[in-house]
This record gives sequence, structure tokens and C-alpha cells, in this order.
Amino acid sequence: MCMRVASGGSERSAAFSACVKIQVQHAVRLSGRSLRLHEAGQKMWIQTLSPDLPVPASFFCVVKTWFITGTDTGAGKTVLTSLLARYLYELGLRVAALKPVCSGGRDDARLLFNAIDGSLTMDEINPWYFQAAIAPTLAARQENKSVSRRAVHAHIQNWREKSEAILVEGAGGLLSPLGVKFNSRDLIVDLDATPIIVAPDKLGVVNQLLLTLEALSAKTTAKARIVLVSPATPDTATGSNAGLLAESFPAKRTFSLPWLGKPYSPEEVVRRPDIRQMLQQVLEM
Ligand SMILES: Nc1ncnc2c1ncn2[C@@H]1O[C@H](COP(=O)(O)OP(=O)(O)O)[C@@H](O)[C@H]1O
Ligand SMILES: [Mg+2]
Repeated sequence: MCMRVASGGSERSAAFSACVKIQVQHAVRLSGRSLRLHEAGQKMWIQTLSPDLPVPASFFCVVKTWFITGTDTGAGKTVLTSLLARYLYELGLRVAALKPVCSGGRDDARLLFNAIDGSLTMDEINPWYFQAAIAPTLAARQENKSVSRRAVHAHIQNWREKSEAILVEGAGGLLSPLGVKFNSRDLIVDLDATPIIVAPDKLGVVNQLLLTLEALSAKTTAKARIVLVSPATPDTATGSNAGLLAESFPAKRTFSLPWLGKPYSPEEVVRRPDIRQMLQQVLEM
């Protein structure tokens, strides 16, 4: 799907593999568990397990699950998730942007709904929502309700089967309770998702990021990405955190999102070349 063979040249590189050059129309899934995104018109080489062309479309259907967490509430998770969702959506992918659990209103879910032009309903994006603007599990209790890890996992899993890319936004930070005895870390493990840790680029964030990374397994940390979000008003540490963090975490998996002003439109922001490049790199394996 989403591709066509552009140049006829195919060469065998091993008994059961072949290289083909394809021109990407939207996005391409690569073999194994990796996904690489390319802008329309770019050409790239891929290796296939079959020497026969064209490569079966199903070969490329690897659903990728990203989990957007953060060092805190208000870090910029929804801003980033909306931009990623819009970017993937405009690439032509069937993208599910989920905010399974909301408290204090459904604003986050509405932003995700808008980012994907309503291709999922509000209830599909956000099945569990509670009025009080406190930790979701406490807000649920106030309404004599509860959210189970199994139910949230089943909901996300259902969308994994129907989508080509999944973005899940947690609530609060990595260990903030989401429901009955589970948090974002538990879902990341259940889903074997790639965590994207969003954090404000301000004084103290390196400690918060290192604590968050410590709370993840080595296997999960090895694929984690960090996005530092510039605050509206820089402080003394803004701009220097990425360099300091690079002493403990690979710089190639640390990214920066500039302050976008208020109000901003995700549709317009994802057209900026610097933002597109950043989003693509965050998502690339
Ligand atoms: N890069 C940014 N540019 C403009 N506004 C931002 C940016 N990052 C965060 N904000 C604003 O800061 C507030 C908190 O961001 P949000 O994405 O909702 O955080 P979280 O989802 O982590 O709670 C929102 O009002 C959001 O619009
Ligand atoms: Mg949010």
C-alpha cells in the first residue's frame, strides 16, 4: 500500500532477498518491527524477503505504537501528540490518536479529534473521562467509577488492529496513576510501545528526565525519545538542557519543539519544514 515501484532495477543481494527502489507516495513500512517515514516523492532502497516484484503490500503493514508521556502535566504532550497525529494523517496513514483517560474535561481529546479531521469519534479517542481536574483515578472514584488496565489495553489493542500508526497520550507523568493500580509505564510495557517523553526545556528538567528514564526498563529506554519543549519565556537553563542531557542519553534521540505562540494551528505548524523534519525524526527508527 501507499507505494509504487519507481525504477525497474532489481538486484539480488542474497538467495532469498532482493533490493527494489521505490518511489514513496505517502509512507512506507519496512521489514521487521521498524517503520521509516518518507515524504512523498522521495526514493529509497528497501530489502525484501522475496525476489518477486511487486512486494506484497501486507509485508509492509507493521503497526507502530508510540506512547506520549512526559515529566509532568502541562509539559506539552497534547501539543506534540496533535502535531504527530496531523503529520501522520497528512502522510495518508490510518492514524489513531488516543487519549484513553481524561480528567477535568475532554480538551485533549478534542485537539486530537481535530488533528485527524474527526476520523475517529470522540468516544473512540477518549472512552474514559471524568469531570474533576485531578488525577484520573481519583476523579473516577468521585463518580463511583473505575478504569482497569485490561480495559484500556483492550481498547488500544483494538485500534492497533485497525490502524497503521497509533499515538497514545498518557495523563500527567510516567507514573501518574491512570486507573486502578496502573499508570502510563504499565501501558508502555503492555503495548511494547515506543515512549516519547515530553518535557519543558527549563531549569530542573534534566533531573526529571533522568528519573523518568530510570523508571523504564533498559529495553524501553533504548528506544525512547525525548522532546524538549521551549517555554513561552526562556529561563536560565533553556537551550542548555539538551547538551547536558547528551552526557546521559543519546543526542540523536533528543529533539526540540519551539514555542508555537498562541493560538497556533497544528495544520499550519506541520507545514513548517523545521517542524516536519523534527516530527519525522522523532518517528523514525
Ligand atoms: N510548544 C508550544 N507552543 C505553544 N503552546 C504550547 C507549547 N507547548 C505547550 N503549550 C501550551 O501549554 C499548555 C500545556 O500543554 P499541553 O500540551 O496541554 O500539556 P500536557 O498535555 O503535557 O498536559 C497548553 O495550553 C499548550 O497549548
Ligand atoms: Mg495533555
